[in-house]
Amino acid sequence: MNLDLFAPDASPGGVEAIGPQSFVLRGLALPCVPQLLAALRGIEAAAPFRHLVTPGGFSMSVATTNCGTLGWTSDRRGYRYTPHDPDTGRAWPALPAVFLALAAEAAAQAGFAGFAPDACLVNRYRPGTKLSLHQDKDEQDYSAPIVSVSLGLPAVFQFGGLARADRPARVPLQHGDVVVWGGVDRLRFHGVLPLKQGRHALLGEERINFTFRKAGPPP
Ligand code: SIN
Ligand code: FE2
Repeated sequence: MNLDLFAPDASPGGVEAIGPQSFVLRGLALPCVPQLLAALRGIEAAAPFRHLVTPGGFSMSVATTNCGTLGWTSDRRGYRYTPHDPDTGRAWPALPAVFLALAAEAAAQAGFAGFAPDACLVNRYRPGTKLSLHQDKDEQDYSAPIVSVSLGLPAVFQFGGLARADRPARVPLQHGDVVVWGGVDRLRFHGVLPLKQGRHALLGEERINFTFRKAGPPP
């Protein structure tokens, strides 16, 4: 029997420190998965997934969309946040209440009380999709943490240091896991190794990641 055919879900409740102010909250999202997925269907209907082009002219293997007052986007002119979806000209869909509640709860558990994100980047991975090591630094305010929610197929998250050359740790992430990094760890390099083949009971051959950020000016 090929156990890899069915990706296991997270075991809820565990907290693993991966840095001084960085934590994996195992299975924290599991209780709200039905609401998260229902909200995702509405988001992608209003703002379809697309493969962004990097400033260097490469099409990203990950497919993205956004919700929130600001959405992260990229084209030949650079990376930036915009209030409108450049593909439709409309405002990005609003952040659903369940997203805000989960992001705030995760941040609080990691020591960042009062997290109020204004941006949620939604990334869709399929087998073979990867995300190269990068820093999240297009935000105006680095005092807020990053909250990253994993659904569907498992992935290996790379969590590096503050210098690109620092060798990243490999952190396996399952359906329902939430990673939070902020404070002294806010600008650590991170990425996702190429997704392995597999089939998840709810999401099939996909991994969905929600990355919550405070992108606009500090309050
Ligand atoms: C990101 O860095 O934007 C996404 C990380 C992930 O998919 O886990
Ligand atoms: Fe990132």
